[in-house]
Amino acid sequence: MSQFNIAVIPGDGIGTEVIPEGLKVLEAAASKYQVKFNFTHFDWSCETYHRTGRMMPEDGLEQLKKFDAIFLGAVGFPGVPDHISLWGLLLPIRRAFNQYVNLRPVRLFEGIKSPLADKKPGDIDFYVVRENVEGEYSAIGGIQYEGTDDEVVSQQSIFTRKGTDRILKYAFELAQSREKKHLSSATKSNGLFHSMPYWDSRFAAMAKQYPDVKVDQFHIDIFAANLVRMPEFYDVIVGSNLFGDILSDLGPACTGTIAIAPSANINPEKQFPSMFEPVHGSAPDIAGKNIANPIGTIWAAAMMMQHLGHTEMHDTIMNAVETVIKQRDHLTRDMGGNASTQQLGQAIADLITAK
Ligand code: NAI
Ligand code: MG
Repeated sequence: MSQFNIAVIPGDGIGTEVIPEGLKVLEAAASKYQVKFNFTHFDWSCETYHRTGRMMPEDGLEQLKKFDAIFLGAVGFPGVPDHISLWGLLLPIRRAFNQYVNLRPVRLFEGIKSPLADKKPGDIDFYVVRENVEGEYSAIGGIQYEGTDDEVVSQQSIFTRKGTDRILKYAFELAQSREKKHLSSATKSNGLFHSMPYWDSRFAAMAKQYPDVKVDQFHIDIFAANLVRMPEFYDVIVGSNLFGDILSDLGPACTGTIAIAPSANINPEKQFPSMFEPVHGSAPDIAGKNIANPIGTIWAAAMMMQHLGHTEMHDTIMNAVETVIKQRDHLTRDMGGNASTQQLGQAIADLITAK
């Protein structure tokens, strides 16, 4: 029997509603295979911040280090500024554990209507590979003459050769493993004078090592327009932290709802635990109503099992997700149904145990 030790951080808002559904589905899948999960729960959240002045304890990262993976809901809630919650929990984990790949699959499922006219399942099926530890998301910079008319703010982006090359390499390898073998890079070398021409030059250099991968690049503005106009064109997309962040919300939005989108924060070398979460946030507007869609979280759980080497369990979970979406009997409000969070999670778990 294989055992997996998973750190579970439900976080804030609907994070605490969708994570139990992810665990339910994992337990259902575990009962089919010779697998045992040891889940350790951490209540780190904005509530913890109000109580203790910290999003997680001082030795939080040390506590997480020993786990096989981290399963996260969402962090951030009104009352704590978003930059505090993000920099107090999510970003330190991504950085300390060198989770430099943020992998986000985007797929249009049968049974969901895309907001884009005439798109059918199969038309939208791509990955966004987002750089996850450097780039535009940096704490370097400052503010001078604060509160006066002379106020000056600067914010630095950081692009290292190591950081740029390793994310490009990951994206090329992913593209190479897929049928279309097509990689598109997001840039803005006409506006950002230093960082993006550098990104483009590293992209061109890396492309030489993967002659069988078809490549192209688009400025982020037309890239965003293209994703709406012709999503079927894309196969694997690679972008810096900021550009990847934007495209990986736009992509799932084109498939009907961001609520089903997962996000894997991966340390490919497996020196540290990787972290799996839905793309969406804590959704304060619907928190506490039991109407949150748990599919993004359940898909993230499937990606976690794939990362941990259990591809069969990933496929079993995803088959169940696809079937439940196609049947349309147990969908939440955002997908045009009226099921509760728990009913949708249960429907997926039941399908796994029934098979
Ligand atoms: P959000 O993703 O929480 O919500 C955006 C919209 O989508 C809302 O109308 C919400 O009701 C809807 N939505 C999101 N998830 C849903 C689900 N599972 N089912 C049904 N509807 C869903 O983004 P927002 O409002 O920008 O951020 C809210 C808070 O979450 C902020 O504090 C933000 O910082 C945080 N956040 C945290 C993230 C993380 O932990 N990785 C990611 C994004 C936001
Ligand atoms: Mg985002």
